[in-house]
Amino acid sequence: MNVHAAALAKAHRFDEQTSAFGRDVIDDLSQHPKRLSPKYFYDAAGSELFEQITLLPEYYPTRSELSILLDRRSAISAIVPDGAALVEFGAGATTKVRLLLNECGFDAYVPVDISGDFLKAQADALRKDFPGLAVYPVAADFTAPFTLPDAVGAMPKVGFFPGSTLGNFEPHEACGFLRSARDILGQGAQMVIGVDLEKDERVLYEAYNDKAGVTARFNLNVLHRINSELGGNFDLSAFRHRAIYNRERHRIEMHLISRRAQTARVLGRSFSFRAGETIHTENSYKYSLERFIALARGSGWTPRESWTDSAGMFSVHALVASD
Ligand code: AVJ
Repeated sequence: MNVHAAALAKAHRFDEQTSAFGRDVIDDLSQHPKRLSPKYFYDAAGSELFEQITLLPEYYPTRSELSILLDRRSAISAIVPDGAALVEFGAGATTKVRLLLNECGFDAYVPVDISGDFLKAQADALRKDFPGLAVYPVAADFTAPFTLPDAVGAMPKVGFFPGSTLGNFEPHEACGFLRSARDILGQGAQMVIGVDLEKDERVLYEAYNDKAGVTARFNLNVLHRINSELGGNFDLSAFRHRAIYNRERHRIEMHLISRRAQTARVLGRSFSFRAGETIHTENSYKYSLERFIALARGSGWTPRESWTDSAGMFSVHALVASD
């Protein structure tokens, strides 16, 4: 590709991503109640804030999941066939995947993530630290169907979906995701998936309303992103963060609440807010072991083993594709 073609391809990609973001924001802020998709939290600043969340004393999921992966590393490595490819849905910090790569003797690693630049940096670091590992990044939105690189076509596949990202999906979307992952990974595939558990409401509340206010900054960052990428004029100081546990629906809900009556403009449209009106920005569904196992069974997977940490905060499941 010559420089001009490269620049055009880049500009095109930029336009496509920006307009998808713009379309979604306009659509979602036109709903009643207003909402925004949590997939837009993760620009560079949002990803950095999320890394800070994972270190908060109140935010137990990351620590709990890591302790399960570490404690169960030999059981996990026992389900991994020789010469397998590890396919990770979404690629964030590499701590968890490094643990699996150290233990399980994979031949290939396929991180799938919407952010191409981020993927490239991550792939380079892993190639350096795992010289025998073939790394094939795929820049795709893993919530939609995508194809695996030809190079891993003949290898046994192990899917990896850590962090309870599944919790961001509505239950029917979670089912759709699991079915599509099964189709993408193919017959005989395995899956290792991290799922957050229902627990004391106080513990859940505090994990999403931390004292240091990092989750609040993470939530508000989506308005900052709308301002900088879509030329919006949201006044960030006129919204406050709120997370509540919705017991009937087994989910944490994050909202941004308008502190006063106000109007914000995005891409030539105005959106009016009443004082106290909310933008629903995220759901984080929590599962019981039974409810997750039933979901997996109904979505093309047979549960093989389920592990929790000693405090019963979080779960990791090994699934095998049903015939
Ligand atoms: C990355 C979706 C698993 O739901 O706990 C953390 C995101 N939101 N704090 C979660 C999040 C607020 C996180 N997931």
